[in-house]
Amino acid sequence: MPRIVKHEKKLPIVIEEKDAKFPMHICACGLSRNLPYCDGSHDRTRDEADTAVYVYDGDKRVKL
Ligand code: FES
Repeated sequence: MPRIVKHEKKLPIVIEEKDAKFPMHICACGLSRNLPYCDGSHDRTRDEADTAVYVYDGDKRVKL
């Protein structure tokens, strides 16, 4: 079943854990193909207009 979920963030949530070698990057844009982790897919949101609404479906993006 398709579902529309609103995401406004364009960058991951960075979690610094004590004794961890690297910070954890949690996807906040909703586009990662490796949820809950960021895979860099948020780069696709960089040219989004703040007042527009976009629909992402796989590799496709439509501006409403
Ligand atoms: S924040 Fe979603 S892929 Fe990076």
